Amino acid sequence: MRVLGIESTCDETAAAVVEVDGNGHSSILSNAILSQIAQHAAYGGVVPEIAARAHVEVIDHLVARALNEAGITLDNIDAIAAAAGPGLIGGVIVGLTTAKALALVTGKPFIAINHLEAHALTPRLTDNVNFPYLLLLVSGGHTQLVAVRGVGDYVRLGTTIDDAIGEAFDKTAKMLGLPYPGGPEVEKLALRGDPERFALPRPLKGRAVPDFSLSGLKTAVRIEGERVSPLSGTDIADLCASFQAAIVDVIIDRTRAGLRAFEAVAGRPNALVVAGGVAANGAIRAALHQLATKTGLKLVTPPPALCTDNGAMIAWAGLERLRLGITDDLTAPARARWPLDSVKGQIMAETADEQALSVPADLIEPIAEQSV
Ligand code: KG4
Ligand code: ZN
Repeated sequence: MRVLGIESTCDETAAAVVEVDGNGHSSILSNAILSQIAQHAAYGGVVPEIAARAHVEVIDHLVARALNEAGITLDNIDAIAAAAGPGLIGGVIVGLTTAKALALVTGKPFIAINHLEAHALTPRLTDNVNFPYLLLLVSGGHTQLVAVRGVGDYVRLGTTIDDAIGEAFDKTAKMLGLPYPGGPEVEKLALRGDPERFALPRPLKGRAVPDFSLSGLKTAVRIEGERVSPLSGTDIADLCASFQAAIVDVIIDRTRAGLRAFEAVAGRPNALVVAGGVAANGAIRAALHQLATKTGLKLVTPPPALCTDNGAMIAWAGLERLRLGITDDLTAPARARWPLDSVKGQIMAETADEQALSVPADLIEPIAEQSV
């Protein structure tokens, strides 16, 4: 079984082919990706209009590249999957329409994938993880703790009530005059800074509900920065180290709360999985590793190229659905918002109400913080 997957929800255009053989062994035949980071860098964040235009310009080449690198043609594909949201709506429409067009001309099944579901199912592609498991998804657009109980069976245990963690890294970096994306820059400088010099808050620490809040922390960095301004190199490194230490504390405390909440809805997890761009951070990984060891859990961190946005995760989610007989028809809408716990594991027929409203509502909806 082979599925072509297309991703275009944010600033990466990606296409990939994933295969499962007769023994249930999965492999990535190709994973083509083009990042738009350079086009957005001058603005310090992703500009939706620039993103949508850039997707249009490259998407057909990327699909061709994914097929070439896999050494196959569309004839050898069993289904075509695309991320239908959540995300920047202009970009989502580009990938979704491309996939629908390919499905229409080839007569192959089409599968609309929730981008968050694709992140959530990736550890099954990379590490064969069995359900249920706890997913900590931390990227520029998402900060969620999710109980993954089965394909289409997700319970969102907690989320951020303001900024995503990657966004907090990026905004803090911008305040300190560091380039975009800020996460890797902050991590680099934190290595030579003093994590105890600035007393920063640990928002929501100790709360039972495993939600996150980051905007107060970001503001605290700004206030401390203004207090010692003009900033020397040492000040910046110390602010980075203090900020990262606060984030690490918050992540560990919130994940502990997530593990407790998990027991109530899904029993004992088979693994703790961390995914998303922020999972590349060494300090965060090390702390999560410690937590997993203490709680007797296996920590699974898919390789960075599969943790961040990519086409293979969309193809894989398509494959998981296809082998359960779940496909979609070509009216499946693009969605700016699409909460993970509303994704059904069964036939994706929507209610008449949703169908009537979804396209115009999505087009006029403001971009949700959790959806970019
Ligand atoms: O998953 P991703 O590539 O894209 C989405 O946001 O969906 O994540 C990008 C985010 C950015 O906010 C970036 O600053 C952050 O991940 N990031 C990091 C590190 N590497 C990337 N944050 C902290 N430490 C890092 N080493
Ligand atoms: Zn993502």
